[in-house]
Amino acid sequence: MNLLDNYFFVDILVAMKLKDRVLQILKEEDKAVSGNALANRCAVSRNAIWLAIEELRKDGYKIESKKNVGYKLQVDFAPILEEEIWQSLDKLVQDRSSIKKIGQQQEKDFTFILLESVDSTNTYCKQHASQLADWTVVLAEEQTAGRGRQNRVFHSPKYAGVYMSILLRPQIELQLLPRITACAAVAVCKAIEKLTEQKPQIKWVNDVFLQEKKVVGILTESTMQIEQGGIDFVVVGIGVNFYAKSIAENLQEIATALFDDSNFKAEYRPQFVAYFLDFFRKALGGLKENSFFTEYKGRLFILGRKVRVLLQNTSFLATVKDINENYNLLVELESGEQKTLTAGEVSLKLDV
Ligand code: BTN
Repeated sequence: MNLLDNYFFVDILVAMKLKDRVLQILKEEDKAVSGNALANRCAVSRNAIWLAIEELRKDGYKIESKKNVGYKLQVDFAPILEEEIWQSLDKLVQDRSSIKKIGQQQEKDFTFILLESVDSTNTYCKQHASQLADWTVVLAEEQTAGRGRQNRVFHSPKYAGVYMSILLRPQIELQLLPRITACAAVAVCKAIEKLTEQKPQIKWVNDVFLQEKKVVGILTESTMQIEQGGIDFVVVGIGVNFYAKSIAENLQEIATALFDDSNFKAEYRPQFVAYFLDFFRKALGGLKENSFFTEYKGRLFILGRKVRVLLQNTSFLATVKDINENYNLLVELESGEQKTLTAGEVSLKLDV
């Protein structure tokens, strides 16, 4: 070993202790930090900084380096892997009652389709429905034409959200369909609570809110069997603003995300999917009894609040009085007239 090698060896040792400090600085800074600035702040050589950065990259941190600008820590983006969802599902319960045992073999209770990019996971499900089994879950890393209720755009940038559609073939009467959306909203709330310990609330009929800002939208679509007249399939589409980048510029005031730069981790997205599916599947078992109604109502933060009710071409102010077991909203207009609203074409605006 010559003298130069020796310096290099010492620098490696320094880098190992140094990397935590460098990581801390990069986490604190919104902008890129130059190698010189890092070296000064840590009182080490530029070479030691370079080695510490390499060590951090080996640990899996994505650190962008731009010539003449410096280093910038990238948030922990990574694709969702099916294996990660199964691992989380299996951790939830040792013996999930929903797993059907066939001989020695376990039949998996969900079929996953993971797409890198798609126009809309709901559209994908509807287009491929004839080949998709009950409880097929379609997930996309980005949607190029994500849709919300009333043909609104659902902004779906890559890795920043969870964009998921579940295809179901429920054997139920048509009038029970609103319960599926309500059940999904409750399951979303429970999954968020488990993942973040925050307490989500519901804005009728299908939006999930955190601190009065929308964090999840749900779009349920269904198709009837032409001859028999029953439900052919239902697609429940869930769009979660996971990381702050998922929120479109013009929605910053009214929407929020579960995580920001400082606390977002790639493993949270597959965990959320697992938590949601587990809650949703269990809760849907109580669809005929409407067993999730009390929880839905308990999370309905618009009860007693003044809202603007938007119908196709008209709107009016009203106070939300109650919700009935068919998920119809009972409101009182300023004139004292009472109205019962069904989800269909109605939407509500808060804080009027
Ligand atoms: C809403 O806010 O009105 C509902 C938004 C629903 C968005 C989800 S994302 C997955 C699925 N695919 C879509 O195109 N929409 C739903």
